[in-house]
Amino acid sequence: MKYLWLVIALQLLLYSCQLSPKEQQANDVPFMQEQHRPRFHFTPLEGWMNDPNGMVYYDGEYHLHYQHYPDASVWGPMHWGHAVSKDLMNWEHLPISLYPDELGMIFSGSTVVDKNNTSGFKTGEYDPLVAIYTYHNMTGEKAGDIDFQTQGIAYSNDKGRTWTKYENNPVLKNPGVRDFRDPKVFWHETSQQWVMIISRANRVQLYNSPNLKDWTLGSEFGEFEGGHGGVWECPDLFELPVDGNANNKKWVMLVSLGSGAPNGGSGTQYFVGDFDGKTFKNENSANRLLWIDYGKDNYAGVTFSDIPAQDGRRLFIGWMSNWQYATKVPTQRWRSAMTLPRVLSLKSTRYGTRLITTPAKEIETLRSEPQTITAITLDGIKELDSADATALELQVTFDLTASDCKSLGVELYNDVNESFKIRYDHSSNLFIADRSNAGNSSFSPDFAGLHFAPRTKIENESTLQLHLFVDNSSIEVFADGGATIITDIFFPSKPFDSVRLFSSDGKAQVTAGQYYTLKNAGIHQ
Ligand code: FRU
Repeated sequence: MKYLWLVIALQLLLYSCQLSPKEQQANDVPFMQEQHRPRFHFTPLEGWMNDPNGMVYYDGEYHLHYQHYPDASVWGPMHWGHAVSKDLMNWEHLPISLYPDELGMIFSGSTVVDKNNTSGFKTGEYDPLVAIYTYHNMTGEKAGDIDFQTQGIAYSNDKGRTWTKYENNPVLKNPGVRDFRDPKVFWHETSQQWVMIISRANRVQLYNSPNLKDWTLGSEFGEFEGGHGGVWECPDLFELPVDGNANNKKWVMLVSLGSGAPNGGSGTQYFVGDFDGKTFKNENSANRLLWIDYGKDNYAGVTFSDIPAQDGRRLFIGWMSNWQYATKVPTQRWRSAMTLPRVLSLKSTRYGTRLITTPAKEIETLRSEPQTITAITLDGIKELDSADATALELQVTFDLTASDCKSLGVELYNDVNESFKIRYDHSSNLFIADRSNAGNSSFSPDFAGLHFAPRTKIENESTLQLHLFVDNSSIEVFADGGATIITDIFFPSKPFDSVRLFSSDGKAQVTAGQYYTLKNAGIHQ
């Protein structure tokens, strides 16, 4: 008994020696206190993350897979990381779903619920979840083969807890191009078949299948449409009511572009049109460019499959980074976060039918007590008392007819003279995100600077609304009810813990607003 303390101490010592270097590091700094770690956005606990993959809803759970390299915080042999959530905000990390194999690394793709067991994969009580993904064969690429990207499938009969790769992979061979990847699959009700949209270098292809295993080419789209500043990646295709009218639906195609986004680097364009199960027709002119986000940090975003009809939302998540600097951003244990979950809808405007993006209502569950911004005439700056810009939701409305300033907006700042500004410039009708002095930018010449977004206000132009979320190292701005979106990341040397509204060269009329400190969510160990 006398030596019990010694035995315990020795055991503790022994136990701590058995911890892996990663675990020991994890014990040093609790993950929620790491310098740039978001408080309510999804991040991998450790290692690298890029595109969201295989996002599907089944039996009360949202599944988020993601491009993941678990061994270091840099892009490497890709796996599918996996997490589930019951509320889109709190995510439980699960073991990796798909590991690289002899056919290649596991690149981006999607997951569907095969309700009718068209694949024949069902073995038990649950519907099979079927993942459709790209194999990227490094050996083939190194050997100079052109056809090193093919498509494979894997299935799960236990609600996504374990996955089996199909024995006859690949299910779709390469048509003879380097870039052939990122299949997004959905069930097309009218023609009673599966549709796959997949990027093929400078266009997308649309395939059909009765069973997820045998695919026939239906059509191609895009060689001469939209933006071509980079390779086409991570497409998506879905139908949405216009102005909420179920009798007037249109199809939306998302296509991410490796480079050539409006503010440089990677970004996501969209097309609006018609789809009959085989062919997509763009209703706008071929050279019309539409972007879902004008910030620099929303890439490869796609939507969830199998959201129940009674919910009916088209839920979107993007990767909050940009290939210009994603591998160099100054985080160590983990790299990259996802955007907040967002809802996509279509609205008719005087410019045509346009995509509107709003934050998912689940985010409201993180709110603390609201603090009110009363109507004031701003002449210079107004601090928002006890606003904590490390975990902030802010809504503010300006009356432009009662404002004579040149520009107005919101600034996040710290006490070492670093700041991030989002401002509206009246004469140019532009939103301008200013990350030129927002902290560390030495890792890339493409990081600091201004990002411009044309204001596409839909009705009542004199009312300007900003709704934004700040989470330690990111901001997501939903302006004018989601008509203009800006997503940017930043790395201040000390957190932006203060917020102010400002007007420059004149007065701005603030009509109302509120803000909230948001609670931690995002990840659970
Ligand atoms: C987009 C992308 C995809 C590819 C994946 C690889 O960011 O390049 O086209 O499948 O990343 O990690």
